[in-house]
Amino acid sequence: MRVHVSVPATSANLGPGFDALGLAWTLRNEVVAAEAEGVSVEIEGEGAARLPRSADNLVARGVKLAYDAAGRPFGGCALACTNRVPSARGLGSSAAAWVSGLMAGNALLGAPFTKDALLALAARAEGHPDNVAAAIFGGLTVACASGSTVTAVALPVPAGLRWIVLIPDVTNATADARAVLPASVLHGDAVFNLQRVALLLASLWVGPPQALGVALEDRLHEPYRLRLFPWMPDVVKAARVAGALGCVLSGAGPSLLAVVAGDGAPVAAAMEAALRRAGIPGAARAFDVDTSGALSRVTG
Ligand code: HSE
Repeated sequence: MRVHVSVPATSANLGPGFDALGLAWTLRNEVVAAEAEGVSVEIEGEGAARLPRSADNLVARGVKLAYDAAGRPFGGCALACTNRVPSARGLGSSAAAWVSGLMAGNALLGAPFTKDALLALAARAEGHPDNVAAAIFGGLTVACASGSTVTAVALPVPAGLRWIVLIPDVTNATADARAVLPASVLHGDAVFNLQRVALLLASLWVGPPQALGVALEDRLHEPYRLRLFPWMPDVVKAARVAGALGCVLSGAGPSLLAVVAGDGAPVAAAMEAALRRAGIPGAARAFDVDTSGALSRVTG
């Protein structure tokens, strides 16, 4: 049997929703998978020069994880990966890889797992549930881990907003960006984020969009990650001066996500120019929200 899987890129956090919110983009990695003796991995596109082609590959590990969870012996798989999600840029490439593998394994096994069950497996593998929830369900997702289960709800996203993602030509490991976070935070900072994440969801549905300016602020991760991305304040300022409602770190960075109510082009240009002034190459892209999430089908 051969299966085809596609999984979207994602931005986690959206400012104050650290480890809780995710948003999926219409930019997809694709994998064709079949059972085989041993593991073989072909990769084209993003990360092709540096991603492992052995059983250490995250997609292959995801396939094996599905077999292990189903209690079925894993003899290997042949994978052909077409990667479009930029690697190690805060756009959910590792979440896409785990989810691709789990979706492929599930399809090869005859689909014993629901998407909710795959979410619990993916969140444990990834270490946090926000990217994998958006990658599996699409749209704007709220994910909440409780013990070994994860509850996720996908929400509609207002059509009038434009999403501009500035992708610097530098990579960042999520583990490094989590290592700079403190073990505990001030009660006042927790309250600051609670107010904003609630306002963020409320202002997305009910409005006004201008409330997003305050709602996208964060005190739980971005202030600590500034030392990894010292250009961030200048890019955020440039985005806001050019008309963005707000601008946040995409996931653990280094990409930055601006939310715009009108024309996104001036914001994209301003963000690129600010990054260039800091001596960092990179490009801004307008992304559309994906509402399909992870897809799989049997192809032969
Ligand atoms: N919530 C995670 C973090 C997302 O910010 O570390 C990583 O993509």
